[in-house]
Amino acid sequence: MQTDSSAPRPRFFDHVAGTRDDARAELGRTLLEPRASIPPKYFYDRLGSALFTAITELPEYYPTRTEAGILAAHREAIAACVGRGTTLIDLGAGDCRKAASMLDVLAPAQYVAVDISSAFVSQALDALQRQYPALDTVGVGTDFAEALWLPEAVRATRRTFFYPGSSIGNFAPADARAFLERLRAQAGPDGGLLIGVDLAKPASVVVPAYDDPLGVTAAFNLNVLRHVNTLIGSDFDVADWSHVARLDEAASRIEMHVEARRACVVRWPGGERAFVAGERIHTENSYKYTPGSFGSLLADAGWSTTQRWIDARGWFALVHAVPASRPS
Ligand code: AVI
Repeated sequence: MQTDSSAPRPRFFDHVAGTRDDARAELGRTLLEPRASIPPKYFYDRLGSALFTAITELPEYYPTRTEAGILAAHREAIAACVGRGTTLIDLGAGDCRKAASMLDVLAPAQYVAVDISSAFVSQALDALQRQYPALDTVGVGTDFAEALWLPEAVRATRRTFFYPGSSIGNFAPADARAFLERLRAQAGPDGGLLIGVDLAKPASVVVPAYDDPLGVTAAFNLNVLRHVNTLIGSDFDVADWSHVARLDEAASRIEMHVEARRACVVRWPGGERAFVAGERIHTENSYKYTPGSFGSLLADAGWSTTQRWIDARGWFALVHAVPASRPS
């Protein structure tokens, strides 16, 4: 295939490389806790990101499709809230597909794709740039869960954070609040937030979305062990582990774990852990909100809701908010 060398290339800033020592320290700790865990950010190596894209195609995984339906149905109203000419910062941009569906109507002055999976988002942004050669684009590979690093190339004027897909549900509520507070500080007084959130619903709908019969979610979950092996030199044998998804209705969250099929010992430079058969490693929480509980979370974090769009089944909400001190 020939490539057009005159086509503009997005500026890309990789802030993930060099954090392997952090990963070693973090995973060395979380794997040795009495209840072992692996933070969900480690799902997203290149294969993990591709598997997540495959999940979004599954009939059982309703969030992406439902949110896309909301975006399509309310394009003009959403654009009226966000305003044209904003710096659109897409958090967890992945394949950039959601933002791409809104670029014509939002007409941002700059599009910034941020994702922990640098290689994956960089490739997606290259493709997007070919589609929109005149668009000012910036790519940032970074783990933004604890602090959002943005290069100077990202315009400081009128920033809108786009955080779709209900990734906010992957934070515990207190961490979600702290994260939203940090976004508010980085948005500035004239900034905004367009955020998607999955709403609480019956187990018969939620559980299959995280435990699909084709096993794509199982592959996504188990792939985290391969990624951990790469990062810290551990010797997880994926065949020793199985995928578990369980709904905790009281906490309004679905949990994912990997469960040891048999007793095994996992070793890595500087550590090891023995697991008994049936022992689990917690890999993800996905919290589900009500419109009211999510509105309260936003308000507690200093955001004021200007508009909220919910699909006809009441499964998913898209919310636009501005800093609370600013009249909405
Ligand atoms: C990225 N995040 C919002 C997804 C979710 O639904 O919590 C990750 C995922 N885990 C299993 N399936 C999808």
